[in-house]
Amino acid sequence: MKVLLVGGGGREHTLAWKIAQSPLVEVLYAAPGNPGIERHAKCLPLRADALDDLAAFAVAERVDLTVVGPEAPLVAGLADRLAAHGLVVFGPSARAAALEGSKAFAKDLMARHGVPTARFRVFDDPHAARRHCQALGAPLVVKADGLAAGKGAIVCRTLDEADDAVAACMERRVFGAAGARVIVEEFLRGEEVSFFALSNGRDAIPLAAAQDHKTVFDDDRGPNTGGMGAYSPVPRVDEAGERALMETIVRPTIRALAREGAPYRGVLFVGLMLTAEGPKVVEFNCRFGDPECQAILPRAQEDLVPLLAAAARGEDLPARTAWRPDAAVCVALASGGYPGEYRTGLPIEGIEAAESVPGVHVFHAGTARRDARLVTAGGRVLGVTAVAPEIRGAIAAAYAAIARIRFEGMHYRRDIGRKGLKI
Ligand code: AMP
Ligand code: GLY
Repeated sequence: MKVLLVGGGGREHTLAWKIAQSPLVEVLYAAPGNPGIERHAKCLPLRADALDDLAAFAVAERVDLTVVGPEAPLVAGLADRLAAHGLVVFGPSARAAALEGSKAFAKDLMARHGVPTARFRVFDDPHAARRHCQALGAPLVVKADGLAAGKGAIVCRTLDEADDAVAACMERRVFGAAGARVIVEEFLRGEEVSFFALSNGRDAIPLAAAQDHKTVFDDDRGPNTGGMGAYSPVPRVDEAGERALMETIVRPTIRALAREGAPYRGVLFVGLMLTAEGPKVVEFNCRFGDPECQAILPRAQEDLVPLLAAAARGEDLPARTAWRPDAAVCVALASGGYPGEYRTGLPIEGIEAAESVPGVHVFHAGTARRDARLVTAGGRVLGVTAVAPEIRGAIAAAYAAIARIRFEGMHYRRDIGRKGLKI
């Protein structure tokens, strides 16, 4: 098979590493890829948002399967374009990707089909939004409807903060058109978990759960980031819990989309809050999580390619997939200043030494090659994943590997995976 992987971050490096292991794959292309992905794929000078160029390449090369990593090209309709040429693509159509692309769409769908989520209302008018915030009382959450690079959800501890969040979205338009409409929703208390399922448009099977660490500093302090680390499996999501998530959340959502003429083919990322009243959906995403993917795929026992291809073609899926019982922990190494401003172009050393620690893989996120050197090129630079029989061992191996990596300003959380030790 000829496979095209779209994207160039840590999630895509992990996908490339896994896909390239498949005996079914003759050639793997990545657009645009990164220096880590280069070890597994032919990298193309095509950006993930260059939909026309990507479609032209896939048609000309007769690519058998396109796997889309990030959400933006899916929400913009990459899967629809490829399907219009008769090509097979893993990743939902624009209409189904609206589950991530429009929070109002996702919330309405959940409300209509009884999928548990925070109580909410949708507003196009800032005055009405403010009146509702007053009535609801703090804490509450104000969310921009559209894609806002993960920054569109504002948790407001006071009504003044809510007032400012409405102004930021609807009046100052800090998220552009994505904030013209907002959702105001109740604040949920509990632990957050990311759950992943695979869907062929008609039905879905569970993949695995992971827990992300969103804030920049230890003990969940400081501003939110794209994710500073993850671990899998999550002791709080046991087999019975997984079955319940499939029956109460994933299958009703997949069936609702199918009935509404927007079958969902791809991976469904369910962002959950484990509340005292049971799990509730915080958000849906139409892709793998980053860095959750880096903690999940190294645990996958089987070849991913037949699964992705079956989901993409709408064919039957196996009843379940096999996962190693081992724990995986991924720690993100970030640039000095991230998630605020940071420098790039700083030399990176020690990756090979880090990978000589047993069970360790280093996935590239924001790296580039300048002359012959590997340099930093993003906020999250590397994801260091370690796999071990117990989470304690995986944590130790990940941090032992990190001690061998250096770049100026490098920082990371020291407590990744600790929550997984508590149960
Ligand atoms: P979202 O962009 O919807 O995933 O929200 C980003 C983050 O905001 C989530 O990962 C949560 O930490 C937090 N969040 C969003 N909605 C809620 C809610 N209803 N209650 C509490 N926290 C929330
Ligand atoms: N790690 C959270 C996300 O990928 O959205």
